[in-house]
Amino acid sequence: MQQKTYRVGVVGATGMVGQRFVTLLDGHPLFTPVALLASARSAGKKYPEAVGEKWAMATPIPAYAKDMVVMDAEADAEKLVGMVDFIFCAVNMKKDEIKALEERYAKLEIPVVSNNYAHRGTKDVPMVIPEINADHLAVIEAQRKRLGTKRGFIAVKSNCSLQSYVPLLHPLKKYGIKCAAVTTYQAISGAGKTFATMPEIVDNVIPYIGGEEQKSEEEPLKIWGRVEGSGIVGADGPVITAQCLRVPVSDGHTAAVFVSFEKKPTKEEILQAWADFAGEPQALHLPSAPKQFIHYFEEDNRPQAKLDRMTENGMAVCAGRLREDTLFDYKFIGLSHNTLRGAAGGAVLLAELLAAKGYFD
Ligand SMILES: NC(=O)c1ccc[n+]([C@@H]2O[C@H](COP(=O)([O-])OP(=O)(O)OC[C@H]3O[C@@H](n4cnc5c(N)ncnc54)[C@H](OP(=O)(O)O)[C@@H]3O)[C@@H](O)[C@H]2O)c1
Repeated sequence: MQQKTYRVGVVGATGMVGQRFVTLLDGHPLFTPVALLASARSAGKKYPEAVGEKWAMATPIPAYAKDMVVMDAEADAEKLVGMVDFIFCAVNMKKDEIKALEERYAKLEIPVVSNNYAHRGTKDVPMVIPEINADHLAVIEAQRKRLGTKRGFIAVKSNCSLQSYVPLLHPLKKYGIKCAAVTTYQAISGAGKTFATMPEIVDNVIPYIGGEEQKSEEEPLKIWGRVEGSGIVGADGPVITAQCLRVPVSDGHTAAVFVSFEKKPTKEEILQAWADFAGEPQALHLPSAPKQFIHYFEEDNRPQAKLDRMTENGMAVCAGRLREDTLFDYKFIGLSHNTLRGAAGGAVLLAELLAAKGYFD
């Protein structure tokens, strides 16, 4: 049977995450990009002109995007009605403005799959890592009631930093995680930057990323929460403490993780739990799903951002250096590609899950 396909718009298409969307949608089996949108600064220009020197992908601008004229995400919102089946959204605007823009699209009956922070705390907006909490999509029904929509809704993905450690902690929850401490070493593309636009990072480490530590500690609790009534009730634990550093790496967030358990597993049990961990994306054979979600490296000097971030097209999570600790039970290293699994790729996978479950019909 021919698979159903969907027309999609990319809002924020000229940005770092938007460029990833533009690249990932080239030849996508389910999603056809038909509209690229950005600010009024870019609107009316052909995409290559609008993105200009900011193009930061390793591959050239896809052919389909070369003649597309960028639309204004705010002024042209109504024009998308009937033109797209849903949108991806990754914009750099104030939180209130993003909230309003995304709700406006949802109320126009255009589902929004968002990379933005603005709605992550909204109780009836699911924040989904598809392998972990696909069941949270059930809250969309309550959100549609609140918004007064039939098909419009907002679904978001979590912050990119979490992606390097939450998928590694999740399959270990059966051992009762007491607490975890993480330090993340985050790539400059996470700030929408390249080495050309962030020269101050060369030969340097910057020990502060605004808002990142709070997100890294709080967002896992929503992901580990449950749908109850008209919202998602966050989990009480496990408690996570986080420090987030910006490092001179182009792509790929690394996490150094320490963890203690109620019932300490053996090292072999942890490795087995990681090897066995799969979720709905694998069961449904979604096009962007990694075949093996967690890849464990036995070598002492892996995973490395430069060598390993593209594992399974940047959609897998890498782990290594699992060993006992003197203060906590264990420590290990995690790595994930921040603009692929951590941003655009994770959102494309979420959209594939939403499509498979009929949310765009
Ligand atoms: N980079 C990452 O790894 C990452 C990971 C997860 C989440 N995110 C989130 O994704 C979002 C985008 O991040 P980014 O790194 O891609 O940012 P970015 O490179 O600065 O790009 C921002 C995009 O927003 C557009 N924009 C700015 N003001 C606008 C307006 N008033 N109306 C419509 N569009 C507007 C820009 O269009 P113009 O070119 O026309 O100015 C551009 O397309 C942010 O919310 C960020 O927190 C980023």
